[in-house]
Amino acid sequence: MDGMISGSHNTGPISTQRSIPVVSMPVSNAARSISIEKRAQIIVLGNEKGGSGKSTAAMHLIVGLLRDGYTVGAIDLDARQATLGGYLASRIAFAAARNLPLPVPAALAVHRSEIDSRAEAEAEETARFQAALATLSATCEIVVIDCPGSDSFLSRLGHSYADTLVTPINDSFVDFAMLAKVDPENHDVIQPSIYSEMVWEARKKRFSRDRGRIDWLVMRNRLGASEARNKRDVGSTLDALAKRIGFRTVKGFGERVIFRELYLQGLTLMDVREANIGISLGMSHIAARAEVRSLIGAIRKPPPAMEPAAAVE
Ligand SMILES: Nc1ncnc2c1ncn2[C@@H]1O[C@H](COP(=O)(O)OP(=O)(O)OP(=O)(O)O)[C@@H](O)[C@H]1O
Ligand SMILES: [Mg+2]
Repeated sequence: MDGMISGSHNTGPISTQRSIPVVSMPVSNAARSISIEKRAQIIVLGNEKGGSGKSTAAMHLIVGLLRDGYTVGAIDLDARQATLGGYLASRIAFAAARNLPLPVPAALAVHRSEIDSRAEAEAEETARFQAALATLSATCEIVVIDCPGSDSFLSRLGHSYADTLVTPINDSFVDFAMLAKVDPENHDVIQPSIYSEMVWEARKKRFSRDRGRIDWLVMRNRLGASEARNKRDVGSTLDALAKRIGFRTVKGFGERVIFRELYLQGLTLMDVREANIGISLGMSHIAARAEVRSLIGAIRKPPPAMEPAAAVE
């Protein structure tokens, strides 16, 4: 596997600079032939709608799972925006500056190919993705993959490897339109739309590759910001669609400042006590932590191989 992530972008193990190691250079034939023998459980955060909370949910899931004692890997498929990569780099820098033993995942970013030929670009991106997955699967029980908020070959590929797909949607019919076309009069679901069709394709691809199934969880995000009737209507329309296209709805995250205010320090609300940054845990933080816990609990997974060393929350 040596040399698989090669070239000037290869920074080796995750470092304190504001980027995480990338799989962006041509992948050797040896790496192409690596089969993913030991495969971690894969959780994909996806939605073609931008800004729905994928990276925020990914960060909180990663830290929550680490604190539960899982060995966790992270793949940023949105390497251009690099929200997850930037967050993890800040986390490492913060922990180093304060000498804090904050848990961090093994992390890789997979860049898009720059080859003009579409077929060759897709082959290169497939090889990079599989190489990253093989690297992290060797040491991690769970790999969390953050996808871009737009359709791309890498995003579709990532989806097709999911054991669990988590789709956050903002609590509005604007975001709902990615999942289904809805009758404006009575809010009946008329037909699935582009993102649901993409997930259907990913499910077929996954099944034909290894007979695996994708457990799809849709999570409403930023609850509380919208007015009560819209919230109720989105909820009941979502329940109707869940049965029709095969996902589970899970309790989502409320609209809470804490979900965004710790980003620059690379922290989550599961770190505030340990990080000792002068934030006292109020009711809103406790509720937010329960929301993250509930998402983690909804993901079907075996218990961690090792007991958590110290459950500091
Ligand atoms: N529950 C929440 N409460 C408050 N702010 C939130 C919440 N969830 C997400 N945000 C904020 O909304 C913005 C978009 O979130 P995020 O970057 O996680 O979305 P995304 O789906 O990853 O976006 P993109 O499609 O651009 O990758 C960020 O500023 C984030 O801090
Ligand atoms: Mg994002």
